[in-house]
Amino acid sequence: MKSELRHPLAFVPTMGALHAGHQSLIKIAKQKCEEVVLSVFVNPLQFENKEDLAQYPRNIDGDIALAQSTGATFVWAPTFEEVYPGDPVIIPAGKIGNLFEGVHRFGHFDGVLTVVHRLFELIRPEYAIFGEKDFQQLFLINQMVRELELPVEIISAPIVREDDGLAMSSRNIRLSTDDRARATIIYKALCEANGSKDPARALQRVLSKEKNFQIDYAEIIDANTFEVATVATPNKRAIVAGWLSGVRLIDNMAMEMAMESSGALA
Ligand code: PAF
Repeated sequence: MKSELRHPLAFVPTMGALHAGHQSLIKIAKQKCEEVVLSVFVNPLQFENKEDLAQYPRNIDGDIALAQSTGATFVWAPTFEEVYPGDPVIIPAGKIGNLFEGVHRFGHFDGVLTVVHRLFELIRPEYAIFGEKDFQQLFLINQMVRELELPVEIISAPIVREDDGLAMSSRNIRLSTDDRARATIIYKALCEANGSKDPARALQRVLSKEKNFQIDYAEIIDANTFEVATVATPNKRAIVAGWLSGVRLIDNMAMEMAMESSGALA
């Protein structure tokens, strides 16, 4: 790594295959600090499925060009040994790490927290930017920072969507043309849930219209606790994950309109 990083600095951790979603994180980082460090590291510890790890898209030359043209002052693509010179010290994600994503990707969040913690140790950022698309990840990173009293401010960034609503993801390039069209069902379902008095039912109803979409979970949760929401939950969020022909997609949306309607019912 560059020996002299200029502080304060803002850090954007990524696994590469950068797209407009990552660019939005860099832009937010740039509003905070002149020095913006972006890491590209496909962390094996967070892949419970070795095939998924092997297939994860990689494009380091494109990543460097995009990151620098967007405002990153330093792009760091460390080796496994640089990140983990010895046995990694695993940071357990705890109870919430075993829900939803954790049910389907066992040990995933232990791997995420371990690498994020390690990258923080190496880079020592004053700010770190994470997208809301990985909402459970964001929740757990905030929890880790609070519990371990890490000296970094976590900034969350809104989801960036394609024109038809599909959340941007490095995995989207693996979708066939047909599946790319089918994938819009997720955004439709989230919007429908948001406008509904029974968001959980609306979410399931719309998603079930797309037979090729295999749901891992589709739920309305309390965004403060990650428990399944009740009518009275003030801060509801719809979370969805599933598969289209071997490509895993996740998304989420604040149930702002549903919140108003449950408030009116209460
Ligand atoms: O969100 C990601 O891209 C990864 O989970 C992260 C935070 C870079 C850790 O590997």
